[in-house]
Amino acid sequence: MRRYRIQNKIVLPFILLFTVVVLVVPLITIMLFDRKYDEQFSLETQEWLKVIVSTTYIHDPQKVKEAYGAEVMIVGVDNTINSSTLEGDWSTFSAEMKFPEARERIEASNGEFVLQNVKVGGRLYKVIYYPQKARRLYCLMRPMAKIADAKRQATLWMLGIAPVVILLVALISHLIGKNLADPIKELVQFTRRVAEGNLKGQCKVKTHDEIGDLTIAFNQMTRDLRNSRNELIQAERLATAGKMAASFAHEIRNPLSSMRMLAQMLMRKKELPESRRAQSMRYILEEIERIDVMVKGWMDFARPAALDLAPNNLNQALQEVLDLMEANLSHHQILLLKKFDANLPPVPFDRDKLKQAFMNIVLNATDAMPEGGTLELSTMQDSDWVRIDLLDTGVGIPPENLNRLFEPFFTTKPQGTGLGLANAKRVLEQHGGDIQMESVVGKGTTVSLWLPLTTANTILT
Ligand SMILES: Nc1ncnc2c1ncn2[C@@H]1O[C@H](COP(=O)(O)OP(=O)(O)OP(=O)(O)O)[C@@H](O)[C@H]1O
Ligand SMILES: [Mg+2]
Repeated sequence: MRRYRIQNKIVLPFILLFTVVVLVVPLITIMLFDRKYDEQFSLETQEWLKVIVSTTYIHDPQKVKEAYGAEVMIVGVDNTINSSTLEGDWSTFSAEMKFPEARERIEASNGEFVLQNVKVGGRLYKVIYYPQKARRLYCLMRPMAKIADAKRQATLWMLGIAPVVILLVALISHLIGKNLADPIKELVQFTRRVAEGNLKGQCKVKTHDEIGDLTIAFNQMTRDLRNSRNELIQAERLATAGKMAASFAHEIRNPLSSMRMLAQMLMRKKELPESRRAQSMRYILEEIERIDVMVKGWMDFARPAALDLAPNNLNQALQEVLDLMEANLSHHQILLLKKFDANLPPVPFDRDKLKQAFMNIVLNATDAMPEGGTLELSTMQDSDWVRIDLLDTGVGIPPENLNRLFEPFFTTKPQGTGLGLANAKRVLEQHGGDIQMESVVGKGTTVSLWLPLTTANTILT
């Protein structure tokens, strides 16, 4: 079924209504006026005829012409014009004067005079056919050119004014429609964002009417939804912490047991050559180092430090990360494409933490493109948000892994901790932002980050 926009629903009836008002109504008025005037004109012409008949004027057509400005025609029984005040070729007039038709009507009305509108020599006349002795006809003709002119002019004026009025109405109704539809459109866009799961921000209340009330109610609903989602996230985090503790214990068991074996061997074999002893000590230190890295990552994730927020230039922070990575990227034959929005406003964020998150995402992209490829970075403003997109042309992520990416310790890499993305998500959520990933195996991955332009949603602890 075809959908009509609210704006059209307002504009079209207005235009239709005004078309009727400015076109149809005046046309009917002109028609009615014309009919009334014609009746009046006929009555007046009859009065004239009465006067002419009752005076000697009936015998002097020329005087009638001078006195009334009307023409006179005398017609014989054979419908030939005997005399006329009209100038020109009478023979052509007799056909135009419709005498036979007039005679028929006179007979039908018992020999009374009849009236007819007739065009003679290109001009319109109101003609009274008055029967006389020997079946002659006395025709009194009043020119109607002025009335016809007035009618034509009125119609032309109306037709000229009508489009202007309709255009004006279209413009005004368009503005009214826009005024009504714009806040609705904005609310619809906002609801779509909410429906997609983006609960950040509020829809601006621009009108103080029912739509404004609806926007306020919707904002309240979104806030409530966000709060309950945060509570849910909190509960989920607690559950994750439990899982993390278990997986952390599992992760450190391996280095711990190899350290124990090495230490036991060192204690047992006192006669071991110095070089072997030193090597075993090095292995133990390496394992300690591994545990240290894991503990640090775990601590970062489990007990994040408060944000050190300051308005920062996001493009610059990204560039600093890229500068650090430059050698790494060119070593892996990765082509870097930057599409930074130069007009990006300053955004409040914790420089070190966000750089760390960027760094991990860029590192992930590098890992995903061992044979080289393209890494595209773009920044843009998206209403109350700043959005950063990182596209790589790497190996991609199988669908079954897509919803595990942000799980702590989820990794597909032998040396990975699986804390990179989990930490990045944590940092962005602390900022009141979000991170999303899309990927197609064999084609590449897109990581999208959103940061709010204001600190309204920031979690400071
Ligand atoms: N751009 C990417 N392309 C393909 N896979 C990716 C990409 N980014 C992340 N992944 C997948 O997500 C997993 C988790 O990433 P995450 O950064 O959390 O941990 P990691 O990279 O494995 O470990 P670490 O960050 O500690 O080196 C990765 O192991 C990888 O399988
Ligand atoms: Mg990583």
